[in-house]
Amino acid sequence: MAATCSFVLSSLLCLLSTACADLLGIPTVPFTQTHGCFFNLSNVEHVIVDSQSSSARDEDGWTLIPPTLAGFADTFSDDLSTVAHCEPTIKHGPNCGEDAIFLTIDKSSDFQDAAGRFTSEGYRLDISESNITITGASPLGVWWGTRTVLQQAVLNHGKVSCGSGVDAPGWSTRGVMLDGGRHYYPPSFIKEMCSWMSFWKQNAFHLHLSDNLYNNVDIYDREQQLDLYARFRPYSEDPAVAGLNTHANESYTQADFDNMQRSCAARGVTIIPEIEAPGHALVISQWKPELGLDGQLDLLNITYPDTISTMETIWRTFLPWFRTKVIHIGADEYVDPDLSDYELAESYNHFVNAMSSFISSEADKSMRIWGTYPPQSNYTSQIHKNVSIQHWEFFEDNPLYDYITNGYDVLNSDDSCYIVQKYSTSYPNHLNRTLIFHGDPAGGPFAPYVFDSNNATNNPDASNPHVLGHIAAQWNDYGPNTSTYLEAYYSWRDLLPALADKQWGGNLLDSDYDDLFNTLQPAAPGQNLDRTIPSQSPTIFAYDFTPSPQPAIAANQPTVIKDLSGNGYYAHTNCSILPSGLRLTDNCSLLTPLHSKGANYTLTFTLRQTSRTPGPLFSGPDSALWSGNGTSTSLMLVSGSNAFPLNYSLPLDQWVDASLVGRGNRTFFQVDGGREMEFKTHIGVNGEEMVWAEMGIVAPVREIGGGGWEGWVRGVELVGHA
Ligand SMILES: *[C@@H]1O[C@H](CO)[C@@H](O)[C@H](O)[C@H]1NC(C)=O
Ligand SMILES: *[C@@H]1O[C@H](CO)[C@@H](O)[C@H](O)[C@H]1NC(C)=O
Ligand SMILES: *[C@@H]1O[C@H](CO)[C@@H](O)[C@H](O)[C@H]1NC(C)=O
Ligand SMILES: *[C@@H]1O[C@H](CO)[C@@H](O)[C@H](O)[C@H]1NC(C)=O
Ligand SMILES: *[C@@H]1O[C@H](CO)[C@@H](O)[C@H](O)[C@H]1NC(C)=O
Ligand SMILES: *[C@@H]1O[C@H](CO)[C@@H](O)[C@H](O)[C@H]1NC(C)=O
Ligand SMILES: *[C@@H]1O[C@H](CO)[C@@H](O)[C@H](O)[C@H]1NC(C)=O
Ligand SMILES: *[C@@H]1O[C@H](CO)[C@@H](O)[C@H](O)[C@H]1NC(C)=O
Ligand SMILES: *[C@@H]1O[C@H](CO)[C@@H](O)[C@H](O)[C@H]1NC(C)=O
Ligand SMILES: *[C@@H]1O[C@H](CO)[C@@H](O)[C@H](O)[C@H]1NC(C)=O
Ligand SMILES: *[C@@H]1O[C@H](CO)[C@@H](O)[C@H](O)[C@H]1NC(C)=O
Ligand SMILES: *[C@@H]1O[C@H](CO)[C@@H](O)[C@H](O)[C@H]1NC(C)=O
Repeated sequence: MAATCSFVLSSLLCLLSTACADLLGIPTVPFTQTHGCFFNLSNVEHVIVDSQSSSARDEDGWTLIPPTLAGFADTFSDDLSTVAHCEPTIKHGPNCGEDAIFLTIDKSSDFQDAAGRFTSEGYRLDISESNITITGASPLGVWWGTRTVLQQAVLNHGKVSCGSGVDAPGWSTRGVMLDGGRHYYPPSFIKEMCSWMSFWKQNAFHLHLSDNLYNNVDIYDREQQLDLYARFRPYSEDPAVAGLNTHANESYTQADFDNMQRSCAARGVTIIPEIEAPGHALVISQWKPELGLDGQLDLLNITYPDTISTMETIWRTFLPWFRTKVIHIGADEYVDPDLSDYELAESYNHFVNAMSSFISSEADKSMRIWGTYPPQSNYTSQIHKNVSIQHWEFFEDNPLYDYITNGYDVLNSDDSCYIVQKYSTSYPNHLNRTLIFHGDPAGGPFAPYVFDSNNATNNPDASNPHVLGHIAAQWNDYGPNTSTYLEAYYSWRDLLPALADKQWGGNLLDSDYDDLFNTLQPAAPGQNLDRTIPSQSPTIFAYDFTPSPQPAIAANQPTVIKDLSGNGYYAHTNCSILPSGLRLTDNCSLLTPLHSKGANYTLTFTLRQTSRTPGPLFSGPDSALWSGNGTSTSLMLVSGSNAFPLNYSLPLDQWVDASLVGRGNRTFFQVDGGREMEFKTHIGVNGEEMVWAEMGIVAPVREIGGGGWEGWVRGVELVGHA
């Protein structure tokens, strides 16, 4: 690994000269600094793309749609303006100039991964007082170098230290897996996640595209099994799969998928798609019930003649969508050795190999499966050696002794980094900081080769070439109504960047992390997952609909409402404004220039409801606050397609002072200074037990009214604390 080699080298130099240190960043960057010399990014006039390489693309990464060097340069230039507040022009030329950042490619340099192999993700950074040169092993390597420059600018008030360094990731797969089968995530969210991850140099977003509640569907009778929540997210009009996906509005079309893949690839992140079978496959047997194992329909009956051909039909339909060199067929939790069911084991192996042969005959892609209960001798002798395996639990397999010593490539998704949204008897809702910074049982931090954080004997050497990397997985075992889609991000927010340092092979210390993270996080370009709103003071906006003297304004006359906060977030309304306030009816509303505000926030308003017609009081792209829904008069927050009601209804014809409060990971409502009521979710656990859990829901601030709700509003104010 170049990172470690040059780290060792620069550490030695540091002993001799004190002129060097890793650049602190997330991840850290091996670098030899020249004291007292800086490049000031405010002075950058040009980003110069080496004209010899401007159309070069990385051919070695996971994506089949790698951007060109010129493409990455465009995105970098946009980022420079938002992050470093400079507006360079892009030029193409043979070499660097004054006050310029030169992007070029040189494959001959010594860019090595942890196993000592060439990696196209490596880069060299040379910084002088007058210019910066980023030399990548490929355009992707250059891209990671641009992340370093941006981070250093953010950390050092716009200037970066002169010097040079060679940096490269130890492993080729670094990122996350998100369970999109049991919870729908809109494309906009996936794209923002890719942008955010990319700032920390992660390159893989594994998207689990089909699954069902629960793991033990055999407690239900056949009719109930056919009715349980089960989803298949890709949506195609191809008659070959007609009826497979019956939830078009919670799905990805090919255009959506293409858009997500391109947006992620533009920032160096590859989406790795997974369609799960023959376990967790209830959605497939809901489509074709004859394919399910009798009594447990989420397991497909592999010996049934149509099963493999049906999976081939599905993959034939969707393979052309997937612009990646590797796809994932799931193959998780089908065979349980406790059942000693070797017949199932053999048919499992047969299934995996049939899919492997099919996929390589249909498309030039390799295939991945989850590591799960390898049926020992059968498995290691039979599964194709070119199928890569994603380990997740020691009770299901031993990655070193079952796979690596038998020649398989293994991706580390050990459940020490598992997250299950909101409720689980086994897994937390966030990552483990101790594991990340101190998780190697042989001493030192976590790294992708650390499968077992307790027993070093189970871990291969750091340089073992069969370790592909590390993916942190997040699951939705209890379905879509346990969380909002933004909560998937909240669970990763505070510590995924630290883990990204370890997935890369960085040297970040526990004691340095919080300061670095708190400074870098608000700067991560291409996303606003925290749903922050720029504001000069704690008050973000304030609208008063009863300023006196104010002449009454009739309905249907567009009116501008002043923002009293000083931020200039003027609102527009076509409702009438009378001395008692803004009159909201079915066919008018108020629009602000804003969308959502993440916690912490307090949204305060004075209103009088004048009818029981249900409708949204406030709405935005991520959430809405409704008074009633037709069958209930409860006040409820709606996010995605789920409603979280309070045991409270707004009164009729009575003024109330109310606040919607987002505090940390919880959300409250308060009326007339009374007790705070909390919006919670009621989680159904295996159809029996019910568990209450907190909900962190952003404030909807795009629109007031406009959907049937009727009443008066006197004033509305949003502040950034709770
Ligand atoms: C960087 O350059 C800008 C504009 O030339 C200047 O205002 C700023 O003070 C410089 N920053 C540093 C840290 O030298
Ligand atoms: C870029 O900086 C290096 C190191 O100071 C210097 O040798 C080179 O001449 C500079 N290039 C240009 C075009 O300014
Ligand atoms: C699986 O399919 C085979 C072939 O049709 C059938 O004989 C067998 O009974 C099925 N097994 C179960 C458990 O459904
Ligand atoms: C994987 O190995 C199998 C069995 O040797 C072969 O049929 C298949 O073409 C290979 N796939 C790839 C992507 O090389
Ligand atoms: C599969 O493994 C089991 C247990 O080790 C053994 O009984 C069976 O004969 C094996 N089958 C094959 C085809 O190797
Ligand atoms: C919410 O925050 C509290 C306090 O920080 C924490 O203990 C709890 O685990 C969090 N809950 C979730 C679901 O993240
Ligand atoms: C976090 O990781 C450490 C180090 O591996 C481990 O000792 C500890 O049990 C883990 N904590 C939890 C809550 O899993
Ligand atoms: C550590 O792992 C090795 C190899 O799997 C095993 O033989 C040994 O029993 C394990 N030690 C403990 C304490 O679990
Ligand atoms: C309205 O909300 C109540 C309370 O959450 C819920 O039971 C009911 O199913 C909802 N009705 C509709 C039509 O969404
Ligand atoms: C999708 O449509 C169903 C049925 O109309 C509805 O219940 C659900 O809320 C919708 N989901 C989304 C994400 O809009
Ligand atoms: C939000 O409020 C909680 C409770 O007062 C506090 O612990 C937390 O630090 C606040 N978060 C932010 C981002 O201000
Ligand atoms: C969430 O879904 C479960 C079924 O999985 C259901 O029992 C529960 O009532 C739902 N909770 C809410 C708040 O809708």
